[in-house]
This record gives sequence, structure tokens and C-alpha cells, in this order.
Amino acid sequence: MMNLIVAKAENNIIGKDNSLLWHLSEDLKYFKQITLGKTVLMGRKTWESLPFKPLKNRRNVVISSQKDYVANGAEVFTDLDSALEALKDEEVFCIGGASIYKLLLPKCDKLFITQLFESFEGDAAFPEIDTTKWEIKRLSPMLYDEKENIKFRFEVWETKKQ
Ligand SMILES: NC(=O)c1ccc[n+]([C@@H]2O[C@H](COP(=O)([O-])OP(=O)(O)OC[C@H]3O[C@@H](n4cnc5c(N)ncnc54)[C@H](OP(=O)(O)O)[C@@H]3O)[C@@H](O)[C@H]2O)c1
Repeated sequence: MMNLIVAKAENNIIGKDNSLLWHLSEDLKYFKQITLGKTVLMGRKTWESLPFKPLKNRRNVVISSQKDYVANGAEVFTDLDSALEALKDEEVFCIGGASIYKLLLPKCDKLFITQLFESFEGDAAFPEIDTTKWEIKRLSPMLYDEKENIKFRFEVWETKKQ
């Protein structure tokens, strides 16, 4: 089972200068609740951007083309296919960044999207979701972060049954 979890701005931006552009404490709690006990799969840059690593109580898997790359507390794969083969019996959550989302979106069963209702300037973006293939199955009420002055909601997307 391949899932993806992301927090994205209204214009699909997810980060800048290898970091996040907002701090939504509700979203961090949600991320933890959804991914705890699962396998988290990420690109090397996202791994490096994590303030605390590895993510506790999760199997951490990093993709890097560097053959000698060491990520303490994580398993490293030099290509996506070998990672997917090794994880084929796991419930995997792709946690970014932009390059890994792009590669894995077509292979996902479910998307856990924190949708912000605000646009940002950044250098990392989530790919456009094809709404002829995907639909929202679950939706939280609109939420509001006072500190950041951002409205957001949690969405769960699944592929449409043909
Ligand atoms: N808002 C969110 O939910 C969210 C979540 C995660 C990340 N982000 C943001 O996303 C940005 C990072 O995204 P990014 O696209 O720049 O980096 P990334 O996807 O995290 O990592 C890119 C790196 O992964 C490795 N990689 C990617 N595809 C590969 C492949 N097919 N085979 C082997 N290695 C591969 C390469 O590492 P090597 O260079 O070592 O080969 C590549 O440089 C940051 O701003 C971060 O804060 C946002």
C-alpha cells in the first residue's frame, strides 16, 4: 500500500530553500498520528531538512543516488525501484519532497493532503492532481491557525473507481 502525505499551499508550493514555509502545529500532530508505526519514504534533501531524525517509531527510508550516502537511523536506497521492491509488503507513506512526490504520485493509492488556503513563493511544488483520476473521499472541517493566520483542512484523496 503506497500513500503520500503532504502539506501544500493553494498554488501547490511545499517549500523553499529546503525548508517548510509555515508551522502548523495541528498539521504536525496529524502527520505524526497518520505515519506513526508506518514506513516513511523520503528524498535525501527532505531527510536533511528534518530537525529531528530519524522520525521516531517509524521505519525511515531515504533515496539518494550517492552510493556511499549515510543517513543514521534510516535505510538508504540508491534508486526508487529497489526501495519499492524492498517495501512491497509495507504500508508506506511517501513524505516528500517535490522530486519524490512527482515520481510516486502515479503509484499511490491514497493521498493525505493538508490543503492550505493561502499561496506562497517557494522553489518546491507538489504536482498538479489530475481530478479525472482522483477524488476527495474524506474532508475535515475548515481549520485555522491563529499564529500563522492560515486556513487549512485535511483531505484524503483516492483514485476514482472506473
Ligand atoms: N510541505 C510538505 O509537506 C513537504 C514535505 C516534504 C518536503 N517538503 C519540502 O520539499 C523540498 C525538498 O524537495 P526536493 O524535491 O528539493 O528534494 P527531495 O525530493 O526531498 O530530495 C531530492 C533528492 O532525493 C534523491 N532522489 C530523488 N529521486 C531519486 C531517484 N530516482 N534515484 C535516486 N535518488 C533520488 C536525490 O538525492 P541525491 O542528490 O543525494 O542523489 C535528490 O537530490 C524542501 O523545501 C522541503 O521542505 C515539503
